[in-house]
Amino acid sequence: MADYKMDADHPGTAMARGVQGVLGKGLDRIEGALKVSGTATYGYEHQIDNVAYGFLITAPAAKGKVTGFDTEAARALPGVLDIIVDDPRIPRQAAAFGPAHAGNDEIDHYDQVMGVAIATSFEAARAAAKAVIVHIDAADGRFDTMADVAHASGPPKDSRLQDVAKGDIEQAMAEAAASIDQVYTTPNQVHAAMEPHASIAAWEDGTLTLWSSLQILKVARQVLAKAVGVESAQVRILSPYVGGGFGGKMLGPDAVLAAIAAQKLGRPVKIAMARQQLFHNVYRRTDTHQRLRLAADKDGRMTAIGHDSVVSQGPDGGFMEPVALGSISLYAAPVRHFTHKVVTLDMVMAGAVRAPGEAVGMLALESAIDELAEQCGRDPIDFRKLNEPEVDPMTGAPFSTRALVECLDWGAQQFGWARRASTPASVREGEWLIGMGVAAAVRINLMMDSEARVTLSPDGRARIETDMTDIGTGSYTILAQIAGEALGLPLDCVDVVLGDTDLPPAAGSGGSFGAASAGSSVALACEDIVATLAERMDATPEQMTLKDGHAIAGNRRVPLAELVGAAPLVGNGKIAQGSNAKTYSQAAHGAQFAEVAVNAITGEVRMRRMLGVFEAGRILNAKTARSQAIGGMIWGIGYALMEDAVLDQRTGQFVNHDLAEYHVPAHADVPHLDVHFIEHVDEHANPIGVKGLGELSISGAGAAVTNAIYNACGVRVRDFPMTLDKIL
Ligand code: MOS
Repeated sequence: MADYKMDADHPGTAMARGVQGVLGKGLDRIEGALKVSGTATYGYEHQIDNVAYGFLITAPAAKGKVTGFDTEAARALPGVLDIIVDDPRIPRQAAAFGPAHAGNDEIDHYDQVMGVAIATSFEAARAAAKAVIVHIDAADGRFDTMADVAHASGPPKDSRLQDVAKGDIEQAMAEAAASIDQVYTTPNQVHAAMEPHASIAAWEDGTLTLWSSLQILKVARQVLAKAVGVESAQVRILSPYVGGGFGGKMLGPDAVLAAIAAQKLGRPVKIAMARQQLFHNVYRRTDTHQRLRLAADKDGRMTAIGHDSVVSQGPDGGFMEPVALGSISLYAAPVRHFTHKVVTLDMVMAGAVRAPGEAVGMLALESAIDELAEQCGRDPIDFRKLNEPEVDPMTGAPFSTRALVECLDWGAQQFGWARRASTPASVREGEWLIGMGVAAAVRINLMMDSEARVTLSPDGRARIETDMTDIGTGSYTILAQIAGEALGLPLDCVDVVLGDTDLPPAAGSGGSFGAASAGSSVALACEDIVATLAERMDATPEQMTLKDGHAIAGNRRVPLAELVGAAPLVGNGKIAQGSNAKTYSQAAHGAQFAEVAVNAITGEVRMRRMLGVFEAGRILNAKTARSQAIGGMIWGIGYALMEDAVLDQRTGQFVNHDLAEYHVPAHADVPHLDVHFIEHVDEHANPIGVKGLGELSISGAGAAVTNAIYNACGVRVRDFPMTLDKIL
């Protein structure tokens, strides 16, 4: 097995020899035809005989004790097979990360899962679930983060961020020629994936098979096994297609309840969570309260950066939204001050949602930078360039690659930044005020354990096998491109099998580590095969060229099928978590540009255009990368202008718990978006030179919008989302 350990002396070279010309190309998704023809089978669509339907039964309050269930009326309804409310394994929290509260009577959050109704149809199951009466002894809950801030705790020990205090921020603020001390707030937000959490469970001879919609299968397998009380080896999970996963497609109550019910009934059970249930039973992104303190000297050089955040968490959660993650190393400043407070509320746990940390942290930081630049009398792009660090300002380590300035410059040129009026509210077209804004983007680069197997068959075809998922990002296609490039095969000679725990365990999808981690494992597996092929060509891998299904060395050109012979060649690849070079500071960077129109009479904001310029190492597929980036930028629009899970302080429920009232940008809200990649293969990141991209494109996108709004109309709103009532 090609087991890889990167360090500064061994930069990534796995893809250096490829001449096939498929890597990086903007190729269509290889599974695209299946998806648009409705023949890609998603978890809930898997066809299975004798299946029963489940619908979750949930609590009608946010806090209190369950005193009993009335199930008689529900059991009497037509088609009802069972009502399960008393199994001690029922996970009564958002994601079944080891159900701490399983089996007790406590209610931790509104709409908490209590059990499941099983029937012969979805409709009958839903009717039965609604007919179950949950008796409770309700108690008052805590739903207001800032009201309880005095009882906050600090960052959990295993948190990605700890508090930082370098220098004296108070003194730096007092001595500053220009400074900003402002509070920014963001509301609770939800994942809102198009495909809900949904699972089918079937038992056979003590072995559980689950078809579901999940991001990281190896973790889901362990959690599910523990939740139902079997060994991991007795659980197989299949999740070949996933209709969106933004941090929340971890094992949910649908999976555990389907497994419990299928076991009890002795037949397969399928459960899809209702859209409304997703709002309260999949972890949310916490609300945030962020104080930004920025100080600069008379030349516009930052002397201090302070980012103090307060976030919330449910009673069970261990995760802390790492709000300052983007702020930590973005700008030079000798004084650096980052703190985090976590307040416990009687709400569903908070977890990772779409660029945890940067998505909301950069919204505030990059708005504040815009304010400070203005105070310093500097153009916001020049201001950022002036405060560009030479080395990582936290650790002193050199950057592996860092193209923030390049992204800003390229984007300014392309976007027509020179046409921007520096005085707010000075460009008007009829009743519309026009403005432009800019923001930086940054996202940490993560690598996770990932394994893959590649088989080169006697017929000259390659097959990639790993339990990696494709959450809509293009995993199938980029993995095929990597193997095609490494083995010299056109893409129609590469088969990709994903989403099955019977296959080598991959990183899965999350934290924008998927492409880099799973891709590296595939590249390394191919290196195994290349080594064997080279031996058979009496050459070193360096002396051999693989192209169009042939190996070429010296004066020989041999078809791969011939070279493989009768027995397939199998390569195994494994990349380890944290194997990226430690001596370098690694992150992906970008620049976001927005132009908006603000209605001078109504305060309505209309997006006019956006440009994202990103540097995320090697771009594996120009088309899927662009699609990722556009998606991220659209979320930026949503964070700035729309997304808001409105919490009822009396009941602890999100009142707008469906997609009619929880607003995300729709087509009419999204203008022309353009994306450009500045490609620097990051040799210190991993064997394929790739850095995480998806979440980078969210980072800063909302701030570009808010800064454009300020430039358009001269109004700064610091409480997100920026709805028109706040702008007027
Ligand atoms: Mo992501 S929020 O780790 O899917």
